[in-house]
Amino acid sequence: MPPTSAASPAAASGVAAEAARRRTFAVISHPDAGKSTLTEALALHARVIGEAGAVHGKSGRRAVISDWMEMEQARGISVTSAALQFEYQGHVVNLLDTPGHADFSEDTYRVLAAVDCAVMLLDAAKGLEPQTLKLFDVCRHRGVPVVTFVNKWDRPGMHVLDLVDELDQRIGLTATPLNWPVGEAGTFHGLLDRDDETMTTFERAPGGARIAEEQLLSAAEAKERYADAWGTALDEVSLLDTLDLETFHAGTSTPMLFGAAVVNVGVRQLLDALVELAPPPSARPDAEGTPRPVEAPFSGLVFKVQAGMDKAHRDRLAFVRVCSGRFERGAVVTHAATGRPFATKYARTMLGRERETIDIAFPGDIVGLVNANALTVGDTLYAEGSPVAFPPMPSFAPEHFVTARTTDTSKAKQFRRGIEQLAEEGVVQILTSNRRGDGAPILAAVGPLQFEVATARLGQEFGVPIALDSLPYGLARRTDADGVALLNAEAGVEVAERRDGALLALFPDKWRLASVQRRHPDVALEPLVAGA
Ligand code: G4P
Repeated sequence: MPPTSAASPAAASGVAAEAARRRTFAVISHPDAGKSTLTEALALHARVIGEAGAVHGKSGRRAVISDWMEMEQARGISVTSAALQFEYQGHVVNLLDTPGHADFSEDTYRVLAAVDCAVMLLDAAKGLEPQTLKLFDVCRHRGVPVVTFVNKWDRPGMHVLDLVDELDQRIGLTATPLNWPVGEAGTFHGLLDRDDETMTTFERAPGGARIAEEQLLSAAEAKERYADAWGTALDEVSLLDTLDLETFHAGTSTPMLFGAAVVNVGVRQLLDALVELAPPPSARPDAEGTPRPVEAPFSGLVFKVQAGMDKAHRDRLAFVRVCSGRFERGAVVTHAATGRPFATKYARTMLGRERETIDIAFPGDIVGLVNANALTVGDTLYAEGSPVAFPPMPSFAPEHFVTARTTDTSKAKQFRRGIEQLAEEGVVQILTSNRRGDGAPILAAVGPLQFEVATARLGQEFGVPIALDSLPYGLARRTDADGVALLNAEAGVEVAERRDGALLALFPDKWRLASVQRRHPDVALEPLVAGA
């Protein structure tokens, strides 16, 4: 296999052209806004699925869902567990999956480090919900541009201008609608296309099994058919800003689209907007802030690590976002953290419905590496001879804390190994505190379900039964070595060290934090900012 580091000018321009046609994004939303439904609808439009569950299927969308689940079981790993790749209109789209439950939002934050754009999915009846706000904050921090898709327009919801106001007032994002609903939520007639003032109506397929058939109406036809609703739509949308690519890519404006994923309405328009407007992969700053051009030799970022399903081997699968260069299966790359070589012989991708061996990948693509026991979330890989290290993956402010111990004392070694593995995968954060004589590690999490996963995994994969004792903390602040003694002397406060060396001061609540801050104004107590 030729070395990946030799980037001739011709090869480099090939890489740049391949990068330019990639669109790598994730859908972020509050649970229940319709993320899974939209993912399926996108796959249907891209004809990734269709033949099986939907088009030839007897029973519509449910068949599609079960089809996917069957596939998950058969293959032992979720097709949606990392990325779905498909071709659409000459582009290669990589749609990265994010977990549905808010307790696993830390995983979502990491996925946002691997995308070039996010689709913020809103429920038309609910607008901005807590999880949407949190995730949007991360996008802002990381400079990820956001496209907004207002879903569930087929049923009653908020007034459309109130939704726009909410984006502006609550998150300072200017909506620049690309289309606009004709008819209020619940009495929806179709979409006004702002570009040419035409209207698209949809014939919904029963159960959303097929792509909704579209009919294009001229402005005159729309006016004739939907007089009042059409006039209102024109009036409303004329009040709002039009698309501005520069502010969209800078994260201060958001192209907005409307639809109903469950009946595949407005989904094609979303996909078209993504390939036309979302930014392609671009130079990624390394740990020193120097951008690494996409045409530089291969480099990649590990954003997700998952234990394999083969329990006998306890194999680890690492998902890598290609950041620069051409990835070739079989090439030996370097693991930046250790300087050791890493063989990529068994690289895989998810192409459409199949989990296939991948031979070549370009910036924006996601590669799954098996036998990745040496790799942890946030690691960089690079082509031999062309070193780079991307900034470490951010850790997030935990809000739940427990101590963990094994109830089977003969399993102490497996317990330590298991805890280490879970920390490397980012399942939970592990803290140590020298205030605890028994040496029991503190597990810290953003959401309590993370503890359940940790407990189940330690039991199943390492054969270690564990008991958790909850700790009375709900808040962490970063401090430094100077503050440790003072803080540890405060009642109800404890300083613990995270694996990355950060010192976290743990408090029961914000009132206790405020009183400690008042008494020790010089002690460093920095918030742990999501995405920073
Ligand atoms: P999530 O992944 O974001 O958690 O949401 P999911 O796709 O599971 O959708 C949550 C619920 O919202 C589902 O209903 C789904 O059918 C519904 N939904 C999604 N998109 C639309 C839409 O465009 N219009 C309407 N009216 N509903 C939509 P459910 O009752 O939980 O499940 P099911 O009985 O429909 O399967």
